[in-house]
Amino acid sequence: MNRILDPRRHYSSPEDMGDDGVNTTLNTTMGEVIAARYSRRGMLKGALAVTAISGTVSPMALLAGRAEATEAKPIFNFKEVVAGVDETHHVAEGYDANVLLRWGDPLFPDAPDFDPQNQSADAQARQLGYNNDFIGLVPTPNGDDISQRALLVVNHEYTTEELMFPGLREQEEAGFEGMTQQLVDIELMAHGGSIVEIRKNNGRWEVVRDSRYNRRITAETEMEITGPAAGHDLLKTSADPEGRRVMGMLNNCAGGVTPWGTWLSAEENFNGYFGVNVPEDGLPVVEAQYDDPQAQTKAQDERDAAYLARRDEILGGLDNLDLMERYGVPGAWYAWNRFYDRFEVAKEPNEPNRFGWVVEIDPRDPNSVPKKRTALGRMKHEGAENVVNGDGRLVVYMGDDERFDYVYKFVTAGAYDPDDRAANMDLLDEGTLYVAKYNVDGTGEWLPLVHGQGPLTEENGFRDQAEVLIKTRLAADALGATKMDRPEDIAPGPDGQIYVMLTNNTRRAAEDVNAANPRPENAFGHIVSMIAPEGDHAAETFNWTILVKCGDPSIAEIGATFSPDTTENGWFGMPDNCVIDAQGRLWISTDGNSAEETGRADGLWGITTDGEGLATSVHFFRCPVGAELCGPFFTPDTESLFVGVQHPAEGGEDWPEFARVSTFDDPSTRWPDFQDGVPPRPAVVVITKAGGGKIAV
Ligand code: FEO
Ligand code: CA
Ligand code: CA
Repeated sequence: MNRILDPRRHYSSPEDMGDDGVNTTLNTTMGEVIAARYSRRGMLKGALAVTAISGTVSPMALLAGRAEATEAKPIFNFKEVVAGVDETHHVAEGYDANVLLRWGDPLFPDAPDFDPQNQSADAQARQLGYNNDFIGLVPTPNGDDISQRALLVVNHEYTTEELMFPGLREQEEAGFEGMTQQLVDIELMAHGGSIVEIRKNNGRWEVVRDSRYNRRITAETEMEITGPAAGHDLLKTSADPEGRRVMGMLNNCAGGVTPWGTWLSAEENFNGYFGVNVPEDGLPVVEAQYDDPQAQTKAQDERDAAYLARRDEILGGLDNLDLMERYGVPGAWYAWNRFYDRFEVAKEPNEPNRFGWVVEIDPRDPNSVPKKRTALGRMKHEGAENVVNGDGRLVVYMGDDERFDYVYKFVTAGAYDPDDRAANMDLLDEGTLYVAKYNVDGTGEWLPLVHGQGPLTEENGFRDQAEVLIKTRLAADALGATKMDRPEDIAPGPDGQIYVMLTNNTRRAAEDVNAANPRPENAFGHIVSMIAPEGDHAAETFNWTILVKCGDPSIAEIGATFSPDTTENGWFGMPDNCVIDAQGRLWISTDGNSAEETGRADGLWGITTDGEGLATSVHFFRCPVGAELCGPFFTPDTESLFVGVQHPAEGGEDWPEFARVSTFDDPSTRWPDFQDGVPPRPAVVVITKAGGGKIAV
């Protein structure tokens, strides 16, 4: 989810315990001014002068120089989609976009059909979960061609109560008044992930519902904690005094698949599930005062202050408050702690430490226990795209999605063995975690997070390697890593290139800019391109430049740097997920575009990364209103492209044609079913060329 632009996840509530690095003032920023102006400027668009704000680096010159030495990649060959916002999806002419799986679709022969008016936790546990984010394909064990038959893995990131359940108004605003244990139990089952066997039949993908591999992972699936932090005191709870077993995974955003056919699922905003039950007896009551809004605001402020004081009194009795605060715990975005003590930090203060990891799951064994791989660090993990280095070691790239947080990579100690799957299964338990430091001259360093090295000592709060990993963010702070504009997905390529999506950061002040994050109040994000020296992804240095600063290139103040060949449909803001296809082309999906922000829905764009036409972007797929686009994932033959349409209808208030909060009963779109009484449903969509063939070639 895009937590910055999503108004329903508001951050000024009494529940908001400041995420470190997040400036909690609510001053209007330049980016917000630009965004607001954008929505009003209408016909003036073409009349605005273009005098781009110059950055501290010249990405065009640097990349053009590199491009001369490299062979030009194939271009994107398709007719662009028109940018805009409406109730449905759009794909480039000559392509089919078919819904493969929707929230609630049954995944087993005996699973019930989706019945939105009569949902249950038991039914949800046998159906596709909510809000599909990462999408991957892993090979079946039977030697099938993965481009024809495969195991689809899907993350289910989060739930939105008022869009899922009938009769509710916006629940976060309403203090979760409508959330019963029955509904919370459905939410628990709607999280996690799904494994589904799929096959291509006469050119169209279909679900193999009776496959023995189909599986739901939920917020209650038993998992093992492995690697250096397993068994550490900070991971022990009353339900798990050994600190080695945990129930479920939470807020799994992007991820990756390993060369040995396992699924890496990355836990992102886990902090949101933890809360504190603050007794409300005796707190001031705020009455609606329609004739005196100032008095009402004052009364609300007084109530909030009293609430916070009471909450802080409860939290004040806990150890490791600095650790909790650095990760934004308790986020209190859900009502789960009212029904389950493990989500109540006053009762189980270590439970949050057991989330925020990369989880490795073996889709080929439906009975396998998912493993939380602590060696890869604990953060708000966005993804875990990886590459086999020249020396055989696996290198996993990871963004920590928070304003002013960091870019990481993990290098395994051992080498991947393509001939011995079993030997690879615990490769991710041993290796070195690094955090990136970007120098002003276009060089960079990977700083190792190793106990005993530099500041990572007991005197500084790190007693052993386990504590370095559980407190990854604090360790990276101590090392002086570069504060980024919300690192999302990272795509590494085989010839040493690495693309980092930095989605936005409107809280970066002018005095806080650095070379790799050169725009203050960065509302639209940018993409950093890194090069591993001589293609060595395990190296401790790199070179970098900025591929593109995003946003509307026709508004001078935004300072976007798409190439002049980019059409008015071709530019985008808020890059989130990304993939390099088998043709070597970079594709980017976005989260946060809207009628208000950029005059366009989220979707998929291809961008030229070198050669002629560098930083030319083209629009291939467009989401229905309110949805962000996740995935994307290509089959190796480039003939099928899987994308995840997440949270259709969310943020209805950002679309002038709807202009109110979307709910189950009154959504801004009922995509993809468009049937009365059926709510909008997040869905996995497969794109193919009409009549077959490679996509965009
Ligand atoms: Fe779940 Fe960083 O997006
Ligand atoms: Ca997202
Ligand atoms: Ca994301």
